[in-house]
Amino acid sequence: MKTYEKIFEALYEKKDFITGESLAQSLQVSRTAIWKAIKTLEEQGITIETSKGKGYRWVSGDLLIPDKITSQTGLPVTFVQSSASTQLDAKQGMDSGNSSPRLYLAGNQTAARGRMGRQFFAEKNGGIYMSLHIKPNVAFDQLPTYTLMVASATVRAIHRLTGKDCDIKWVNDIYFEGKKIVGILTEAVSSIETGTITDVIIGVGINFHLKGIPNDLKQKAGSLFSDDLPTITRNDLISEIWHIFSTIPEHDLYKVYRDKSLVLDRHVTFTQNGQDYSGIAQDITPNGGLLVELDSGGMMEISSGEVSLTSW
Ligand code: BTN
Repeated sequence: MKTYEKIFEALYEKKDFITGESLAQSLQVSRTAIWKAIKTLEEQGITIETSKGKGYRWVSGDLLIPDKITSQTGLPVTFVQSSASTQLDAKQGMDSGNSSPRLYLAGNQTAARGRMGRQFFAEKNGGIYMSLHIKPNVAFDQLPTYTLMVASATVRAIHRLTGKDCDIKWVNDIYFEGKKIVGILTEAVSSIETGTITDVIIGVGINFHLKGIPNDLKQKAGSLFSDDLPTITRNDLISEIWHIFSTIPEHDLYKVYRDKSLVLDRHVTFTQNGQDYSGIAQDITPNGGLLVELDSGGMMEISSGEVSLTSW
């Protein structure tokens, strides 16, 4: 870990003043190095109180620490402060032969990609922007339902660490107190030769503690922590999500997905192949489709696109 990361860890843990001298001693660096590291932390949006006699005290804000995530999950992490899109970082990493699984993480994104060609709002220092690259090498019909699994792992991780209860809107949006706080985008690469899915990139964007959601999004988009200050760090949440994703069996995550579904037993509308439909969402199929009993009669399984809730 870098000096400023170690200082953040020490101050965040203590939640009280630590003198520059004792920080310098415990980290075996000069007082000037401590001062410089404090400046770096402040540049990264962390508020630190400085007192002449008492030293430094963490007040608010957190720092993404890739080494910490690696030590908690075993995942190698490629981290940049700002990226166009971690999906693109993962694709480039994949093309250049980086090992997998690997997590691509950014402090901000300037061209974050959402589903169906949409943009995804990102903000410096307040969000989690990450893409996991894995190499499943299985036939398409054997592919685990990664989107469902990551949505469930995220809802579970949030609940474990904060006690907050979120819901999942099919297929991959997570809502907290009626507003979307997480979006998931899963992309796959297949080999025509072998008929297998060789690579999957699962992108997750979490509005962790956003302060500047634009007015035109405020009705729909929220933040995990908004008026209340975060009680956990982004590192904690990232590690917990990937820990749950890699340790809890797919069928248990599938159960979480159904339990937390916002759409099951509700009246929904959706469009398929240019035609509008409505009906009651009856079930989530094991391959992640949504089974709808149509108002016009009969059942329909939808595997892509979006549904809207009639009463929201
Ligand atoms: C959606 O809600 O439409 C999906 C949003 C997915 C956003 C994440 S943020 C990390 C990764 N990088 C991107 O450019 N997109 C995904």
